[in-house]
Amino acid sequence: MTTEQVSEDYWNSFYAEHDQIWSGRPNVVLVDEVSDLAPGRALDLGCGEGADAIWLAQQGWTVTAVDISSVALGRAAQHAKDAGVDDRIDWQQHELGQSFPDGEFDLVSAQFLHSKTELSRDAILRSAASVVAQHGVLLIEGHMGFPPGEHNPHPDIHFPTPDEVIAGLDLPDDEWETLVSRVHDRAQVMRDGQPINRRDCTVKLRRR
Ligand SMILES: C[S@@+](CC[C@H](N)C(=O)[O-])C[C@H]1O[C@@H](n2cnc3c(N)ncnc32)[C@H](O)[C@@H]1O
Repeated sequence: MTTEQVSEDYWNSFYAEHDQIWSGRPNVVLVDEVSDLAPGRALDLGCGEGADAIWLAQQGWTVTAVDISSVALGRAAQHAKDAGVDDRIDWQQHELGQSFPDGEFDLVSAQFLHSKTELSRDAILRSAASVVAQHGVLLIEGHMGFPPGEHNPHPDIHFPTPDEVIAGLDLPDDEWETLVSRVHDRAQVMRDGQPINRRDCTVKLRRR
């Protein structure tokens, strides 16, 4: 089995375990960082069940939303129909290390693009930067560690700091402006109702 198939199977099983995995609400940082941008073309990488893509479409963005999991994408497309915004979202299945959507975008968002399977995250984020249009924004949100109580099953998994995320993008300094680079704490409620604290990191860059 190829590593792409291993990842696709992993994420399809992950989503198939419950009818709904995520909250159905858009990520707070996406809402905070994007609300004041003029809507244009958006790309959502690792869109999961589609809450961010649907929120973007509701704000007037034309959205391309990508995930490796056909189970997640099927669910997301149904949610978009229910919300009446399916005509504004193009759902695409990619293993982003292998293939990437065509086009250029005024916003590229990667919210918690992590995996317990092999993920060439730095290379994917470099591809993400390469499809940001002039004056467009790249927004990357990531965890800084596993939830409390969950041990790292793969010691190789590394959660990069904002500086490491930016260094990994390997961008020409004069072409990009750093708008946000920060670590922050966020309250989250787990599936079993337990409230926890997550430490996350935000990187927001604008192409000059
Ligand atoms: C932690 S979830 C985050 C989902 C969503 N962005 C959110 O914030 O709720 C990571 C998502 O990335 C997707 N993913 C993982 N590896 C991927 C890959 N190599 N290519 C495309 N999507 C991938 C998973 O299927 C999953 O939906």
